[in-house]
Amino acid sequence: MAAEEVAGTTATFRRVYETLKAELLRDSAFDFNEDAVRWLDAQMLDYNVLSGKLNRGLAVIESYKLLKAGSEPSEDEVFLACILGWGIEWLQAYFLVLDDVMDNSQTRRGKPCWYRLPKVGLIAINDGLILRSQISRIFKRYFYGKTYYVDLLDLFNEVEFKTTSGELLDQIITNEGKKDLSKYTTDNYRRIVEYKTAYYSFYLPVASALLLSGWNLDDYVQTTHILVEMGVYFQIQDDYLDCFGDPEVMGKIGTDIEDYKCSWLFVQALSRVNEQQKGILFENYGKSDPASVEKVKALYKELNLEMAFSQYERETYENLTSDMRHNRMKQYKQC
Ligand code: IPE
Ligand code: MN
Repeated sequence: MAAEEVAGTTATFRRVYETLKAELLRDSAFDFNEDAVRWLDAQMLDYNVLSGKLNRGLAVIESYKLLKAGSEPSEDEVFLACILGWGIEWLQAYFLVLDDVMDNSQTRRGKPCWYRLPKVGLIAINDGLILRSQISRIFKRYFYGKTYYVDLLDLFNEVEFKTTSGELLDQIITNEGKKDLSKYTTDNYRRIVEYKTAYYSFYLPVASALLLSGWNLDDYVQTTHILVEMGVYFQIQDDYLDCFGDPEVMGKIGTDIEDYKCSWLFVQALSRVNEQQKGILFENYGKSDPASVEKVKALYKELNLEMAFSQYERETYENLTSDMRHNRMKQYKQC
């Protein structure tokens, strides 16, 4: 897609945010006083919803345009796709506000994590819940009475269930794993990232666009499979960059080593270490002092995990493009 087109879509998308925010602050179901409006308006909402790359939200609009197969969607149709896109951005903001508290993270999107601001602290928990409940307010305003309203609410509920269940596994393995390294298997890893990341990041934007276009989600099992695989790949990249990425570019400082996370790098390292190297991992993983973190990173380098990641990336790219080709052929034959 041309750069101007992307810029145009992003500008349209951002304008819709202002409309939604203004409506939420005037929500007749709650008489917001000045202090509450001030908290939400220039602070909580912009800080957490607006400051990301907006990839997931924009993916709804792009998917919707593709599903229209050549016929230009009307302004009203694009507006509704934008609302759905913001629904996902709101959902992501809710997950991230709480994820940063649990991961004890420092920065997100180039700024201190919301809970790290002195005036916020654990109020962040309620802010996360507010973000989630605002999605229902937004959807009720725009979709109540549409044929797909129930399916849409169900979709968001299902995806939230999957994501929070994935987060549960991600968080508790750090307690269990300390006692028992055998928990850090490829199967356990795959399960965590499929649930905590893939559904809301890759499946949800496309599934939302399908519902808006009047399609039945049950007819797209193979598409779901490809999107989930893309999501797993995305999280493996996130894990890799958590350790080897530049925090300036990423906008966040990695905490996987300090948090004893079931990261792709750790699982790969465990499958390659000898007894002496395993001892180094056991001694230094999950500690927050910089010297321990550096020892783990040095071992990752020694084990050539950067190369392992490039190889994984190449293979996944080939598998995904081949799956997509087959999926297209199958759909073509069904027409
Ligand atoms: C976050 O997973 C997943 C959700 C927010 C549901 P991570 O903890 O691995 O993501 P980052 O690295 O903090 O963004
Ligand atoms: Mn995190």
